Amino acid sequence: MALRKIVTSKDPILRKKSRTVEAFDEKLGILLDDMKETMYKHEGVGLAAVQVGILKRAIVIDVGEGLIELINPVIIKTKGSQEDSEGCLSFPNEFGLVERPNEVTVRAQNRKGETIEYSGTGLLARAFCHEIDHLDGVLFVDRAKEMLEPEHNRPRRRRFFDRLER
Ligand code: CO
Repeated sequence: MALRKIVTSKDPILRKKSRTVEAFDEKLGILLDDMKETMYKHEGVGLAAVQVGILKRAIVIDVGEGLIELINPVIIKTKGSQEDSEGCLSFPNEFGLVERPNEVTVRAQNRKGETIEYSGTGLLARAFCHEIDHLDGVLFVDRAKEMLEPEHNRPRRRRFFDRLER
């Protein structure tokens, strides 16, 4: 395994759409292992392949309930809503208030190409949505109602849309 460099917010690759994975080969396994190591090293709860510069529909997630690897994931069911602070390894020290469904079911493939399904609530549901957004070039800052103080997650006086105009 090896650490990979995480792409940060200014890099235009984060806006690109990732491609469907068709080859479930050794190269994919190496990518997933490296993504896992990189996510844990930076204490993230999720990482999409595009964040290490690879435009493949592959994500890793661990919200403290064990590692989940999703290839070509699709959200097939959502229920309810939740509003909470959200961040991203590509946006160090930036947090925003983002509304997400409270329950999410995803269908995907594992690294062998087998179909798998996961359901999650709370943070896991949030992570599914956040990481799957990455595969379509969508970032949490696009969905944030407002950006929050990095350390205390308090609402800023200045709203997010004001920040954009600075
Ligand atoms: Co992210």
